[in-house]
Amino acid sequence: MPAIGLGTFGSDHVTAEEIAAAVEGAAIAGYRHFDCASVYRNEDRVGCALRAIQRRGIPRQDLWIVSKVWNDAHDHVLESCKQSLSDLQLDYLDMYLVHWPFPNFHPPGCDVSSRSPDARPYIHDEFMRTWRQMEELVDLGLVRHIGTSNMTIPKLKLVLRDARIRPAVNEMELHPHFQQPELFDFVRSSGIQPVGYSPIGSPARPERDRTSNDTVDIEDPVIVRIAQRLGVHPAVVCVKWSAQRGATPIPFSTKRCNYIANLEAVCSPPLTDEDMTAIAGIDRGCRLIKGQVFLWKQDQTWEDLWDLNGVINQ
Ligand SMILES: NC(=O)c1ccc[n+]([C@@H]2O[C@H](COP(=O)([O-])OP(=O)(O)OC[C@H]3O[C@@H](n4cnc5c(N)ncnc54)[C@H](OP(=O)(O)O)[C@@H]3O)[C@@H](O)[C@H]2O)c1
Repeated sequence: MPAIGLGTFGSDHVTAEEIAAAVEGAAIAGYRHFDCASVYRNEDRVGCALRAIQRRGIPRQDLWIVSKVWNDAHDHVLESCKQSLSDLQLDYLDMYLVHWPFPNFHPPGCDVSSRSPDARPYIHDEFMRTWRQMEELVDLGLVRHIGTSNMTIPKLKLVLRDARIRPAVNEMELHPHFQQPELFDFVRSSGIQPVGYSPIGSPARPERDRTSNDTVDIEDPVIVRIAQRLGVHPAVVCVKWSAQRGATPIPFSTKRCNYIANLEAVCSPPLTDEDMTAIAGIDRGCRLIKGQVFLWKQDQTWEDLWDLNGVINQ
């Protein structure tokens, strides 16, 4: 798996056309790994870019294309995967993920206070029904590897106990102010590669995904000081730290100079041990993608989604 990927979630503010152009430009610059998802609602446009990339002479086997089954399709994984393959104009995916462990639908772009009346907690038997369909995709040759996203240690322990094909990656929020050391170590010691989403701290996320307690990684004095010394943007230090720590960062950018700087971040000389120690010391436990819309009961807080006391919340 390439050491860095390009994120493709444009949220409300970046169009599918801009993202498709970035995918093509990034491939020309050297990216081979693209993190897609059906819920990003741009896979058809990204598919045109992937086709153009291959026409330029980059062979399919050099690309690493990821997609994800959305929460409303946990019972229709084959159908959802085939739709992504058709949109992305591919015969197979390199990685297919279960985007969230909850089968809870919410309309794209809704407010964080929005709740689905059908929302449910994590029910392991239901998740394993979804996982069996994921395993079948491997058997059918439609996907090379399968993985999870937004999981916790207790949920992963159950999946690892019951899976026929183990998750190859776990995609999780990882940035200097949200290092998730326990989950990170658990995932790695289980032979699962952590893929770090929002590696820069998602500075352009929509207002509805912000709270007054959120901190800003790229303004942290430790990150800024290292960036000044290296003559790079603080975002680059975040990406560099993530890859050097052993995660696979998937930063989003549609700006050529920025996605090239992020690629250079994982190819240039490493941060010093002092830098790595200093960044390890600035973890704030600041989760940005809280997942409030997946809550299933009244009077819950978003912390209930993340099994903070080591037990799966019901
Ligand atoms: N599995 C999941 O549930 C999940 C959840 C969230 C995200 N993701 C994935 O992770 C990807 C990345 O996360 P994200 O989009 O939330 O946030 P991010 O990668 O942390 O931050 C992206 C922002 O940083 C800016 N940026 C990027 N490189 C820069 C540079 N070198 N210098 C200055 N600014 C820079 C970008 O602006 P410009 O475009 O202006 O450069 C963009 O606004 C998503 O696109 C998606 O593929 C997955």
